[in-house]
Amino acid sequence: MSKPNVHILGTGSYAPEKVLNNADLMRMVDTTDDWITTRTGIKERRVAGPGVATSDLATPAAKAALEAAGLDVLDVDLILLGTATPDMLFPSTACVVQSNLGARNAAAFDLSAACSGFLYAVSVGKAFIESGTYRNALVIGAETLTNILNWEDRTTCVLFGDGAGAVVLGRADEEDKTGTGIHAIHLHSDGDLTKLLYMPAGGSRIPTSADSVEKKLHYVKMEGREVFKHAVKLMSTAMEETLADAGFTPADLDLLIPHQANLRIMEAVAKRLEIPNEKVFVNVDRYGNTSAASVPIALDEAVRSGRIKPGDLVGTVVFGGGFTWAAAAVRF
Ligand code: ACO
Repeated sequence: MSKPNVHILGTGSYAPEKVLNNADLMRMVDTTDDWITTRTGIKERRVAGPGVATSDLATPAAKAALEAAGLDVLDVDLILLGTATPDMLFPSTACVVQSNLGARNAAAFDLSAACSGFLYAVSVGKAFIESGTYRNALVIGAETLTNILNWEDRTTCVLFGDGAGAVVLGRADEEDKTGTGIHAIHLHSDGDLTKLLYMPAGGSRIPTSADSVEKKLHYVKMEGREVFKHAVKLMSTAMEETLADAGFTPADLDLLIPHQANLRIMEAVAKRLEIPNEKVFVNVDRYGNTSAASVPIALDEAVRSGRIKPGDLVGTVVFGGGFTWAAAAVRF
């Protein structure tokens, strides 16, 4: 069995107060609470609202994680932020968060892997710590997805929400023989499938123009059925291979935290892995799909509610645009 070198020292999360429930959506598009609930498991989601940027959600989540870890802000070495909805194209949202926190001694950058951004960022932070470059890393997943939704498109606008989550990673104590920490983390990508889930305009391919706005190219476009099929298959195999890499099987897991995109995807993944639904963490009913924020919000809720206890083995697996997908096995 592997001996982890990097621990999760603390978790934090934050979601905007405004709640948009399915009844509210029924007044906006041709949909029903029953359709949304049975197809996705979502009952409500949080919405940041006008003038609220991704860094405004990331900053309180980061503060909560630093407090839980007992790490002084001036001791933060590295800030990594996974997002598909940065405050602006440049500079990075991580730099904005660095300034908000006053983390003057940290290097900071964003990572783009859509819904998989948080686990991608965790793997980068882990590698920096293992190489000895940095002692710790503040890793954040944060999104204001509702800013890039077409509120006239019922096939996408009912699915997403806003929020942020964060963890502090640190080096394991040499003497620690408990096996606590990140045992394995695997990343995957398939750029051939980009156009199944993407936002066409606003980058260098189609710069923002009156035409791009008129054609509604600044919104999420998604082939839902295709995404669903790929997500179920690739998330299950990634979780299985990651556990195997660390010398575990799905039966060893105390808790599975899948990307909170859709309850049916989570249940299908759990079924393939032969994990009972009681061992699957679900909060998609309250947040919808918060993309890169989904796993760190869930992790923080699971830790703070006591659903994750010291010694528990937790598997987490994500999937998103790119396509990108990733899994990690962590002992708490
Ligand atoms: N309300 C009512 N009817 C709707 C809605 C809605 N909000 N959205 C679509 N419909 C209709 C469609 O128009 C279609 O009607 P038609 O048969 O008359 O043409 C019907 O419902 C069925 O549509 P499908 O798209 O085939 O429905 P499906 O069962 O595939 O469910 C869904 C759609 C929920 C998007 C599903 O495909 C899914 O969950 N896909 C995964 C997508 C996902 O989670 N993406 C998140 C980002 S990626 C990630 O994070 C994993």
